[in-house]
Amino acid sequence: MLALWFGRISVRLTSPIGMEELEAIAAGAPQRAASVTDLEELEALDSELLGKRSKLSELQRTIGTLPPDQKPVVGQAIQAARAAITAALDSRRAELRLVAANALLESDRVDVTLDARSFPLGAAHLIQQTIDEVCDIFVGLGYLVAEGPEAEIGWYNFDALNTPPTHPSRAESDTMYLEFGDPADEALLRTHTSPMQARWMERYDPPVHVVVPGKVYRADTIDASHLPVFHQIEGLAVDSGITFSDLKGTLAHFAREFFGSSTTVRLRPHFFPFTEPSAEMDVSCFACDGGQSGCRVCGGAGWLEMLGCGMVDPNVFEAVGYDPAAVTGFAFGMGVERLAMVRHDIHNIRHFIENDVRFLRQFP
Ligand code: DAH
Repeated sequence: MLALWFGRISVRLTSPIGMEELEAIAAGAPQRAASVTDLEELEALDSELLGKRSKLSELQRTIGTLPPDQKPVVGQAIQAARAAITAALDSRRAELRLVAANALLESDRVDVTLDARSFPLGAAHLIQQTIDEVCDIFVGLGYLVAEGPEAEIGWYNFDALNTPPTHPSRAESDTMYLEFGDPADEALLRTHTSPMQARWMERYDPPVHVVVPGKVYRADTIDASHLPVFHQIEGLAVDSGITFSDLKGTLAHFAREFFGSSTTVRLRPHFFPFTEPSAEMDVSCFACDGGQSGCRVCGGAGWLEMLGCGMVDPNVFEAVGYDPAAVTGFAFGMGVERLAMVRHDIHNIRHFIENDVRFLRQFP
């Protein structure tokens, strides 16, 4: 009894708080835990209630000073208070963690109901599509596809192609000359793709079967049918025994492939310096099938002028070092814009360079 009494005194004297206060702290823990709104506040409360400087810990430190019979009583009370407080904090901690995790999920959420962003797909320009299609037709016949320089010299653009210095196309007004290198070379922007005939034959022995797509340049003013920069596709076939029939058969095949299987062709005599004989080839109008008055494509003529062609002039063979007695060949040259305009009923060549998407989108 005395011991107990002393013990109580001793507890009161050496402890900053009494047992009642301890019980009050434990009992109030759930409410205090419930009142914190985030994990940071909760950890602050945790150290206030259970940390080294908490009243609970201070009380615990006094246990050693208690009489032996008091130690288990006070010790158990402290453990019980600690367990109650810990349980209250843990349950609130779990709640707040869930809230935080949900907030993170919410902020990280992908709205799968959003429409996927669409990437508009472009397409090759109609000129490129036309070049590809024509080249494919000739590749199907065993031709190679080659490209040549756009900056040329007079020799390849004119002289090797049997075009004398007096020819009108050599005039300053028709041709864009370049101030480059030796003036005697007559550097210029090629006026046609034909110089590649000479370049190719100079480099490779017969047989030759090659098509050459590319840009060509002329000092023309822009109007509905002229551009100073446009495109041509050149063709050249050289071997022993090639005849005019081969020329016509090849180009008729091309016309059927490109304009439709019922297309027919006709050849009209013409003049080109580098072919002899030379011709212009017309294709039957695919819109009216041969002459309906007022046809929007051929105007009633029934024929559409399509390309220039002919048998390679012996002078060209001589210029490139071929033996004109041993080989013959044919050549042809067509305007790419013209092909596309005729086939797609395009009436203004400027559409090709304006890059108006309303035009471009029609040729996906
Ligand atoms: N080079 C000519 C021009 O630009 C087109 C041409 C005609 C090419 C007849 C040829 C050909 O190969 O044989 O007008």
